[in-house]
Amino acid sequence: MAIKEVLRMGDVRLLRRADEVTAFDTPDLHALLTDMYNTMRALEGAGLAAPQIGVNLRVVIFGVDSNPRYPEAETVPHTVLINPVITPAGNDMEEGWEGCLSVPGMRGLVPRYATIRYQGQDQSGAPIDRTVRGFHARVVQHECDHLDGILYPMRVKDMRFFGFQDVLFPDGQYPLSE
Ligand code: NI
Repeated sequence: MAIKEVLRMGDVRLLRRADEVTAFDTPDLHALLTDMYNTMRALEGAGLAAPQIGVNLRVVIFGVDSNPRYPEAETVPHTVLINPVITPAGNDMEEGWEGCLSVPGMRGLVPRYATIRYQGQDQSGAPIDRTVRGFHARVVQHECDHLDGILYPMRVKDMRFFGFQDVLFPDGQYPLSE
């Protein structure tokens, strides 16, 4: 039951392209996913990518339950997504607030495709193929960016909308962090 240190922006290990997973349902993969879940849960994140705990593999997890602290938040099914491929469904972009466990205490306004199809595999190698929109689509795009060495501040278009969460949201109602 290890909670791993989450690498923070500035660490070059967050800037690499992660490697494909080639073996499924292995003890190593299950141990990685356990570490990722424990870490994500402990830090109350909506998602986590393996490179954030220093493991350079194309593995992300995400999921959002209904939470009384975020009554407006859309729920997202708990998912293990390996070797993901994202295909935008149309060109519509939406701006939304994001945070990241690797950029603690900050929030930024980031444009993302409104609707995407994502494909990949779960921990046993079974295919995943979903078309989603809204917050679910945003979380997947954020997490999968980590696999290509992209952190959300790199996608903020207007730096006036990037800052400390307690300054941006003084009422304490921070948008969820991925
Ligand atoms: Ni992140």
